[in-house]
Amino acid sequence: MKGLILSGGSGRRLRPLTHTSAKQLVPIANVPILHYVVTDLVGVGITDIGIVVGDTGDEVRASVGDGSRWGATVTYIDQEEPLGLAHAVLVAQPFLDDKAFAMYLGDNMFEDSLDGVVDGFDGTAAARLLLARVDDPSSFGVADLADDGTIVGLVEKPADPPSDLALVGVYLFGPRIHEAVRAISPSARGELEITDAIQWLLDTGETVEHRVLEGWWIDTGKKDPLLECNRLVLDRLEGDQVAVDDGAEVTDSTLVGPVAVAAGARIQNSTVGPYVAVGEGCDIRGATVEYSVLMAGAQVSDLDRLTNSVLGREAEVTGTKGARVDLSLLLGDHSMVDLGKGDRWLK
Ligand code: DAU
Repeated sequence: MKGLILSGGSGRRLRPLTHTSAKQLVPIANVPILHYVVTDLVGVGITDIGIVVGDTGDEVRASVGDGSRWGATVTYIDQEEPLGLAHAVLVAQPFLDDKAFAMYLGDNMFEDSLDGVVDGFDGTAAARLLLARVDDPSSFGVADLADDGTIVGLVEKPADPPSDLALVGVYLFGPRIHEAVRAISPSARGELEITDAIQWLLDTGETVEHRVLEGWWIDTGKKDPLLECNRLVLDRLEGDQVAVDDGAEVTDSTLVGPVAVAAGARIQNSTVGPYVAVGEGCDIRGATVEYSVLMAGAQVSDLDRLTNSVLGREAEVTGTKGARVDLSLLLGDHSMVDLGKGDRWLK
């Protein structure tokens, strides 16, 4: 089976972070999301992998490379505009050929391996979907199941969901999907929806199987789910759950696990954790930081408490010594927040 990872799209819901970089490369516990995705596919023996890329293609190529690090072969497939998940399948058809494939949305993360999902799938059934029970189905594709448990319909982000079973970002397809993505028209939001293509398979009498997911699953496309994902992955750290990479410097500070500190980071006179990932070369001085993701080169100083925050690369947050300030931020790369006196700017 081949693998198809979707890593194009616009990342609207994570702006301003995604104005300058791909949402699939945001680090979770200091590792880009896309690296977990490749690891998952290789983990179930899928090593011939296509990655659909858009505007952020160069950055994705630089991060994943040719896949040899994972023992995989990666082929990049350009999608000129993010015209939908089914459109991504359309542009990937020459790569996919007529083989069965696993499509994995590049911003999704899973607790468990995909073993139980891919087992026994050879493309005889037209598709196998993965479903998960969610509190707010209206943010996802949603499945409508008959009394006998078979899927009878699918609807994308419905105002009035037919069930609480969301479509999760891993799909297995046989070759008939190529006919389906050619047969459908763009939705009201102007995208070729994969849900419409699967609905077409159902309408033409094809078999669409499904599995219901048991472990956690997160679509990391928004700040709070992203932080939740960081929390869940850091929870896997063993022992005292404090992981400090070689070349990081921690002085006169307390690290409260789970916490991960990457190489080249410097932490002084601070309390960091729980649930913080400090990226390469970050600098934290005189601050308390918890439940946050700091991307490479971010700096925090003189701050009473930074919490539930995502700081882009080289972003800078400066507080005021002694003042009680409690901040929650989503900052793009190179952004600057200074809570000091305004006249600091006038000097
Ligand atoms: O996360 C699960 C949900 O993913 C499903 O429940 C929905 O049915 C499905 O449509 C999808 O919804 P999203 O709105 O979350 O999709 P998003 O636009 O975030 O795209 C998912 C991934 O695919 C993401 O890594 C970007 C990539 N993508 C997206 C589009 C629209 C592409 O590579 N090309 C595209 O044209």
